[in-house]
Amino acid sequence: MALLRIEDISVSYGNIRALSDVSMSVDEGDIVALIGANGAGKSTLMSAIVGLVPLQSGTVEYDGQAICQSKHQKLTTDLIVKKGIALVPEGRHVFADMTVEENLDMGAFMVRDSALIARKKEEMYDFFPILGARRKQKTRSLSGGEQQMMAIARALMSSPRLLLLDEPGLGLAPLVVQDIFSKIRIINEESRLTVFLVEQNARLALKSSDYGYVLENGRIVLQDTGENLLSNESVQKAYLGA
Ligand SMILES: Nc1ncnc2c1ncn2[C@@H]1O[C@H](COP(=O)(O)OP(=O)(O)OP(=O)(O)O)[C@@H](O)[C@H]1O
Ligand SMILES: [Mg+2]
Repeated sequence: MALLRIEDISVSYGNIRALSDVSMSVDEGDIVALIGANGAGKSTLMSAIVGLVPLQSGTVEYDGQAICQSKHQKLTTDLIVKKGIALVPEGRHVFADMTVEENLDMGAFMVRDSALIARKKEEMYDFFPILGARRKQKTRSLSGGEQQMMAIARALMSSPRLLLLDEPGLGLAPLVVQDIFSKIRIINEESRLTVFLVEQNARLALKSSDYGYVLENGRIVLQDTGENLLSNESVQKAYLGA
């Protein structure tokens, strides 16, 4: 069953068309990858899902309900988060002067139950031991990989059903990126968290994903299982350096 369904959405910035009639869906429990060159519109698509950019046309449906629609935005971003979608934006946007713990608290801004917040934090520290060890440390003192782990943990604090990750590997060493992806796969398997991600390392992204979409100049040009896209000749030429 599709947890996220995007139908014919278009987005423009002034007279720059960033997305043209994009349709796609993400099934519950899957990891789905979006690959595409710089400027293809990947971050715009992520922003559109959580209502951060207005749609010119089309609809975003989540769990059977329209959450974004052209002309009248259905839900504000905070209500979309409350419904169970969490976005880790490109470049992470961590609060550098706050401690790890304070950042995690920010991720739970919608949660009223303080016992639940404490429990979620302990869960995160168990799953990312490095964050547990650094919980009182200012975020700016963390390495890039640790900050990315923290950004993911912060997103998980709201107990989302759908996690959106915009380039979790950006600027990180290959081994660190692999580590992050193995964590993402474990979370997906253990809690059936649905994941929709954008990643520059197309090989790793497709290997880790049930399904994938290729975005070119704001249009979906190809879609298939991760496995089939990995062996697709045009994908290999354009994105896998083959
Ligand atoms: N706030 C904005 N104002 C104007 N144009 C924008 C804005 N954000 C993005 N664009 C343009 O929209 C297009 C898509 O950008 P977007 O950031 O979605 O691409 P991307 O696929 O995420 O690229 P990258 O791989 O570099 O992150 C680009 O042409 C970009 O210049
Ligand atoms: Mg981007």
